[in-house]
Parts: sequence; structure tokens; C-alpha cells
Amino acid sequence: MISNNTILITGGAGFIGSTLANHLIKKENKVVIIDDLSMGNLENLDNSKKIDINIDSITSETLLRKVFSDYQFDYIFHLGAIASVADSVENPTKTHEVNFESTLLILELIRKSQKNLKRLVFSSSAAVYGDELTLPKSEDHSVIRPLTPYAVDKYSSERYVLNYYSLYGIPTSAVRFFNVYGPKQNPASPYSGVISILLNTYKKFKVDPTVKFNVFGDGEQTRDFIFVEDVISALQLVATSPKSLGEVYNVGTGNSTSLNDIINILDNLLSLKIPVEYLKARKGDIMHSFSTIEKLKQLGFSPEYDVYKGMKKYLEKEF
Ligand SMILES: NC(=O)c1ccc[n+]([C@@H]2O[C@H](COP(=O)([O-])OP(=O)(O)OC[C@H]3O[C@@H](n4cnc5c(N)ncnc54)[C@H](O)[C@@H]3O)[C@@H](O)[C@H]2O)c1
Repeated sequence: MISNNTILITGGAGFIGSTLANHLIKKENKVVIIDDLSMGNLENLDNSKKIDINIDSITSETLLRKVFSDYQFDYIFHLGAIASVADSVENPTKTHEVNFESTLLILELIRKSQKNLKRLVFSSSAAVYGDELTLPKSEDHSVIRPLTPYAVDKYSSERYVLNYYSLYGIPTSAVRFFNVYGPKQNPASPYSGVISILLNTYKKFKVDPTVKFNVFGDGEQTRDFIFVEDVISALQLVATSPKSLGEVYNVGTGNSTSLNDIINILDNLLSLKIPVEYLKARKGDIMHSFSTIEKLKQLGFSPEYDVYKGMKKYLEKEF
């Protein structure tokens, strides 16, 4: 959808960023990445020789100034962040610097130097809805309750990004990702998506039958799981649609799936039966969350993968 353009991806060596970079590089785009590799990995990039990779922090004003003076970007996807909610609770000042201050720095540099920009897309999160109970989660809920430093920084970054359109005419949009899964998601982090951790447990179980998967609660908690390839389509639609200027979009499937259902699907696809240990529910965990994607559908989005199809593709690539 996006071809022959110059594109910056912050967090471009991470799970979603590298999938996007690998897609865009195939479409004759010039791709520039900034990533400090705190969670990302250069091996995620299929053709790193064709990508301008800047290994440094998005909090470095010197680096950002250099990148913004070297290039005039058509599109910027700002995905770089400390994506761990738990880290943000542990170290709010450090995560605030990465997850909020870098956004403001990028916005100001765009305002000063990027005259050709067609769109900045900021990656926010379903976490902004917090424990507000209304379902499905809709972008126009008047009540939201971001509960953690991670969620507050995502929400305030999102507001700044969108207000830069109304205040200064900078072309911006934001997306609220629900639970993204797929190849390259880093299971080494205890905070990464449950599906990548689950898949990693199946890999261990194949060689060690004493391995168990721990579920907090009864496994009936539900989430809106979206396959990363659908996320790449959504990002491009939001970036290229004139209607999405200054707007925020849920990026999910509009469906909810329980953790027990995910385990059943994987047992079935892998012809295994993973032992599950049910533990006490974690304090603060939200029981149910799923999106409405009516707004995104108005841009022409239709998710190609349900959980079964997405999981099958994930297994083909990484099991
Ligand atoms: N995966 C999901 O389900 C999900 C859900 C909601 C929101 N998000 C958001 O989407 C974005 C991408 O998430 P992801 O799942 O690909 O996570 P990820 O951790 O794989 O990617 C984030 C990337 O940012 C990089 N990074 C972290 N701190 C940095 C810094 N100071 N300077 C430069 N790079 C830095 C990491 O090394 C990593 O490569 C993040 O902003 C995340 O908060 C993801």
C-alpha cells in the first residue's frame, strides 16, 4: 500500500516494528530505523543491509536531530517504547522519558524540519481504557481510566500527537493496539504477549514432559487477539487515509477469545496436550477486553486472520 517513500520506524527492530520494516522494504521504500535494542533484535530484520539502522535511544536529542536533518520523511511510525506495563510501575521516570518525552521531542522536530510529512502514526494501547468496564471498548468512550504510568504516557502521547494536527496542522493519527501476536514476538520478556509465552512453553514441553503452563485465574479471561499481519494492514490504512487525520483508531479484530480457547486451539494444531496449572488470579488483571473496530472498518479494514488462522500461520513460521 505504501511504496517508493522514505519512512522512519522507531522501535523498528522490535516485534511489530520489524514486521512493518520487512514489509515496507519489499515495496521499494527507503526505511530508516531507530532502536536501542533493549528489547528488539537486528535478526528480526530480513534485509538489514537495505535499512538505515540507528542503534541508539529515542530519548537522544542529538540522534533525533541528525536523523531529521538527514532525511525528509513521508511517513513516521512511532512504535519505540518500553512496552512493559510492569517496568513502568517499577521505574516511572525512566519509562516516562522513553514513552512520553521522546514523543514530544519527535513532534517538535517534525514541526521544525519535516515539510513533506504525509503522516505520523503513533502506537498507543488498549491499556488506556484501564478498568473502565464498558464493552466493547470504543474510541469515543467518554470515560477512560489509564491505570499505570505506561497507560498514562500512552494516553498523553496520543493526545499530544492528535493535538499537533489541530494546533499546527502536522498530519498525525494514533492507533490503540489490542493484543498483537505473531512471529518475532519476544517470549524472553515476562511481559510480552501471552501467546508467545505459551508457544515457548509448548516448545519446552516437547522436550520435557514435566513442563506446565501457569494460568492466573480460571483461564476464562478474554482478550482481543490480533495477528501482526492484520496490524501491518491497519497501520498502512490509517497512515494513508485522508479521513484518519487527527483521529485515533482501535486496532483489534472486534472478537474476544479466552485463554482456555487459545490453549485448546494450540493443543489441537500441535496434537499435544499441555498440562495447565491454574493459579490465583493476579491483582489488577482485567477480566475481559475487546474492541469495536467499526471506526477502522470505515477506512476499509477487515481482519484477514481469526485466531485459528493466525495461530496456524504463526506455527508455520516459528514452531
Ligand atoms: N504487542 C502488543 O500487543 C502491543 C499492544 C499495545 C501497544 N503496543 C505498542 O506497540 C509498540 C510496539 O510494540 P511491540 O509489541 O513491537 O514491542 P517491542 O518491545 O518488541 O518493540 C518496541 C521496540 O522499541 C525499542 N525501544 C525500547 N526503548 C527504546 C528506546 N529508549 N530507544 C529506542 N528504541 C527503544 C525496543 O528495543 C523494541 O525493539 C510499542 O509502543 C508498544 O507499547 C504493543
